[in-house]
Amino acid sequence: MIVLGIESSCDETSFALVKDGHEILAHKIATQEDLHSLYGGVFPELACRRHIDVLIPLLDDTLKEAGLSLEDVDLISVAQGPGLIGALLIGLSCAKALALALNKPLVGVNHVQAHLYAAMMENTVSLPALGMVLSGGHTQLMLIESPSKMELLSKTKDDALGEAFDKVAVMLDLPYPGGPEIEKLAKQGDPKHFPFQAGQIKDEPLSFSFSGLKTNVLYCSQKVELSPENKAHIAASFQEAAFSDICNKIALALEKYPVSALVLGGGVCANQTLRAKIESQISQRLAIPAYFPSKKLCLDNGAMIAGLGYHLYQSSGAAPFDLPAFARS
Ligand code: KG4
Ligand code: ZN
Repeated sequence: MIVLGIESSCDETSFALVKDGHEILAHKIATQEDLHSLYGGVFPELACRRHIDVLIPLLDDTLKEAGLSLEDVDLISVAQGPGLIGALLIGLSCAKALALALNKPLVGVNHVQAHLYAAMMENTVSLPALGMVLSGGHTQLMLIESPSKMELLSKTKDDALGEAFDKVAVMLDLPYPGGPEIEKLAKQGDPKHFPFQAGQIKDEPLSFSFSGLKTNVLYCSQKVELSPENKAHIAASFQEAAFSDICNKIALALEKYPVSALVLGGGVCANQTLRAKIESQISQRLAIPAYFPSKKLCLDNGAMIAGLGYHLYQSSGAAPFDLPAFARS
């Protein structure tokens, strides 16, 4: 079954053609970093306009890369939410128009769950697994029973981790998106230089909170001279506090939920320091395999939408044409 995946939930427009849920035949991603870097974050109205501009040429390029035509597509899968509502509606309208015109079935995919499926489409993962999503918009722990059955265990009470990276980057005068810039700068700093800490939520040991950590960094950046050395120490100490908290909460969740594997996904998973820490603190110490997506599938992409859409169609069939977009999960 050949599935066309459509992703437009934030600032990436992406199409992919994926066979049987895992074989990527073609994959195109149009990023908008140039557009939003001026603002230090995503400017929703501009994101929507860019999605509209690139949508049709990008679809043509994707079909050309696979050497296929629209008639070869068996299923249209689209990111339904969560995300920016205007941006989601553009992808959803495109998906509905294609499904209607071509008389093909349509499915709507949860974008956050698709981030976890990204690592599952590239690896054979024993289930049940614990899922950890670390993206620009979401920080969530999930119990994965199957690709089409994921249960939310906990999430952030305030900022998502990627969002905290982007905001700390603005405090350090680094360009958008901040994650890769913080990672680079942190390599030259001492992770123990500043005693930053992520938040803990009373009676909710698996929930996350990063707004206090962000405020720690803000006050520190106002107090110390922002020399290149201090900026590197701040970046390294922020990263250390954030990733220690992620590892601690994953370890706690693994104690509570007996699973066979850990699956991670989302843009922050492109970070090599995080990958190394998960490997040493979780995989080796707790003897549990951890699966990350390849770098291209960490960020928002159409392949994970096509891949998960395949499984949703197998388990529940096609969605109706009044399928709505949703901004929040
Ligand atoms: O998953 P994603 O593409 O978008 C959402 O669904 O939100 O994630 C984008 C986020 C941004 O906040 C970006 O700063 C962060 O992922 N990111 C990173 C790295 N690369 C991207 N964070 C930390 N280290 C990185 N290397
Ligand atoms: Zn995402």
